[in-house]
Amino acid sequence: MADELTHIPVLPNEVVELLDPQPGEVFVDCTAGLGGHAALIAAKIGPTGTIVLNDLDQGNLDRAKSFVSNALCPDDPDSAKVHAICGNFADLPAKLKAMGISADMILADLGFASTQVDDPQRGLSFRFSGPLDMRMDQSTPITAEELVNTLPEADLADIIWRYGEEKSARRIASKLVEARAVEPITTTDRLAEIVRSASRGPRGSINPATKTFQALRIAVNDELGSLDALLRVMGIAIRKQSQSGSGSEPSWIGQGARVAIIAFHSLEDRPVKRAFGEWAKSGWIKPITRGVVIGSDSEIRSNPRARSAKLRVCKSVRGDANG
Ligand SMILES: C[S@@+](CC[C@H](N)C(=O)[O-])C[C@H]1O[C@@H](n2cnc3c(N)ncnc32)[C@H](O)[C@@H]1O
Repeated sequence: MADELTHIPVLPNEVVELLDPQPGEVFVDCTAGLGGHAALIAAKIGPTGTIVLNDLDQGNLDRAKSFVSNALCPDDPDSAKVHAICGNFADLPAKLKAMGISADMILADLGFASTQVDDPQRGLSFRFSGPLDMRMDQSTPITAEELVNTLPEADLADIIWRYGEEKSARRIASKLVEARAVEPITTTDRLAEIVRSASRGPRGSINPATKTFQALRIAVNDELGSLDALLRVMGIAIRKQSQSGSGSEPSWIGQGARVAIIAFHSLEDRPVKRAFGEWAKSGWIKPITRGVVIGSDSEIRSNPRARSAKLRVCKSVRGDANG
């Protein structure tokens, strides 16, 4: 299991440089993970700053809270300046509003953390033998096992095609339905083996089960639905912000707030690109990044997860700047 002290976040320098944290500012981390990015920001905003950590995985959130509190206020690890909120980031804006918090910087580093993918009991990886779970939030009821064993063949094929962009989706779904009629599919090993048996084409460097595992994980956690919901509420707040004058009602997104989103595949990056593009066209934000920022060769060598990371950053436009 990864240790937060050795955990290296992706694109660390780029995130800090582009979010440009200033002493005393408020940072909202939608996906706290192990607190890697948040600890770097904490060092910049200092003890007068405020940090909100959000994650739907309570175990990660607890680790992040102690790590980040120590980075923000080493002399006061129970500082009220670090707030930990367990839940889906789609619900975070309403909670921030209720707390009266207005963010100067917001980060969403999408997907899963090393503590999750490297835990065989989570069933997220075909590299380990384990139960077919795949839930990031252990309190939700639907596991990958349930999807694989109960969905109609056409729905399974649709999930594998849409969320895995897997060309052999129909054949894989058909094999899964055939196999589960003999015996329920309950482990990562058996799932990977069935997918492999259904895959055609040359064996490359990518395991044939990669796309099916990605698809099921996205479906179990409704990852794209949550991202869409977050972008929708962000868009509403950013629009209001850009149209409000000084003295108007405070928003959970502060005037001139910077928003950074790190995606790991095109299904995640596409809605972010679209949302940022629409907001920019409406004059609600200014893009800070042109296109995506990706990891340097040396980062990718030392942190393979950085290989597919794509960072986009924008800045909300002040109402008074719009006249
Ligand atoms: C890539 S990790 C974040 C790593 C973090 N930036 C760091 O430096 O340690 C992604 C985290 O987001 C969480 N997560 C994924 N989807 C989420 C959602 N919809 N709402 C809240 N947390 C989510 C996962 O549980 C995981 O801990």
